[in-house]
Amino acid sequence: MKNILVTGGAGYIGSHVIVRLHEEGYNPIILDDFSNSEKSVLNGLHKITGKNFKLYEGDILNRSLFDQIFNENRIDGVIHFAAKKAVGESVEKPLLYYKNNVSGLVSLLEAMVEHQVPNLVFSSSCTVYGQPDTLPVTEESPTKPANSPYGNTKQIGEEIIRDVVDAKVGLKSIALRYFNPIGAHPSSEIGELPLGVPSNLVPFITQTAAGQRDSLTVFGSNYDTPDGTCIRDYIHVMDLADAHVQSLKHLDSIEDLSHYDFVNIGTGIGSTVLEVIESFEKSSGESLNYSLGPRRPGDVEEIYAQVDKSIILLEWKTKHSLDDALRDSWNWQKKLSGI
Ligand code: NAD
Ligand code: UD1
Repeated sequence: MKNILVTGGAGYIGSHVIVRLHEEGYNPIILDDFSNSEKSVLNGLHKITGKNFKLYEGDILNRSLFDQIFNENRIDGVIHFAAKKAVGESVEKPLLYYKNNVSGLVSLLEAMVEHQVPNLVFSSSCTVYGQPDTLPVTEESPTKPANSPYGNTKQIGEEIIRDVVDAKVGLKSIALRYFNPIGAHPSSEIGELPLGVPSNLVPFITQTAAGQRDSLTVFGSNYDTPDGTCIRDYIHVMDLADAHVQSLKHLDSIEDLSHYDFVNIGTGIGSTVLEVIESFEKSSGESLNYSLGPRRPGDVEEIYAQVDKSIILLEWKTKHSLDDALRDSWNWQKKLSGI
């Protein structure tokens, strides 16, 4: 059985990937410092899989912890989720983001090279494209200057990995450029746990419908889109989880020990904010209190993925609809809110 180290494995996306890795016959090992997750996630994972996964509680900045993990386990690959991800916070505390996301990645890469761990899947983001010139956005589209320190850490992270791979040290890697992950495991045992007031659309919608927030503000209604609101590519977190399993299989199949690639992970379908609200109301049966408000600074008008590369390279495409994802987000919210 292949051992896969999952940094940030207790987080939103990581926890769903743990489930899929287990179902696909891998042995996932979690490294997390619980700075943005809760131990209750482990109970959820146990309820779904019946397993208690090996856990290292600690910080990716602690290089000797990686040495310990790689000495104690024969690790076949790493999926690297552990990072800070709040765009607004990164503007206020850039050094926190560069330290955690960039220095943390360097710490991991040093240890992987030293211990000859060959395969790395890296969590990147469509934020590297900024507002693309053509849509849907392909992997050939140039990256744009990042509009936040968070976005910059993803661009720098991709470049660091490419440079290390190019140095022919025995590392293969793929960066997954996620579009907008939403949804939860269909069992509602795991899902997203936003701390404080959510800045992302779907947690704000579900918290509003659950009565935790008075009303959702739609950020901007005069964009050059069919209904005036921004367009994004919302992907179910279970589909996203599958893409990680396929990425590991893909890396395993490559004999070139200095292989680096990057790929869009989205549905290929763009939805406006108002379409998301409509889909939520349909799949939940709830009516949402919302109003149209001003634009949010830094938002791109429209972005959705060209998915051909992921279909060919990873033999993967999404299975879930927007309605499915919003239904699962709502069921998870109901469980959190005790509704
Ligand atoms: P998350 O915050 O839910 O999960 C990250 C996990 O990493 C948390 O459990 C946190 O405790 C842990 N962690 C953070 N810093 C750590 C450190 N120094 N040492 C050990 N553990 C640490 O985030 P997520 O939504 O699951 O995102 C996972 C990855 O995907 C991140 O790299 C994020 O930047 C990227 N990403 C997320 C989105 C999104 O919308 N959720 C979009 C694009 C990219
Ligand atoms: C944001 C980040 C992106 C990050 C992603 C995941 C920015 C500019 N981008 O993406 O880098 O990878 O989160 O964390 O912050 N909206 C509302 N009302 C709300 C909340 C959101 O109308 O209360 C709208 C937004 O204007 C946007 C859409 O909903 O059009 C999606 O927003 P959000 O969920 O925050 O994701 P992104 O901005 O796409």
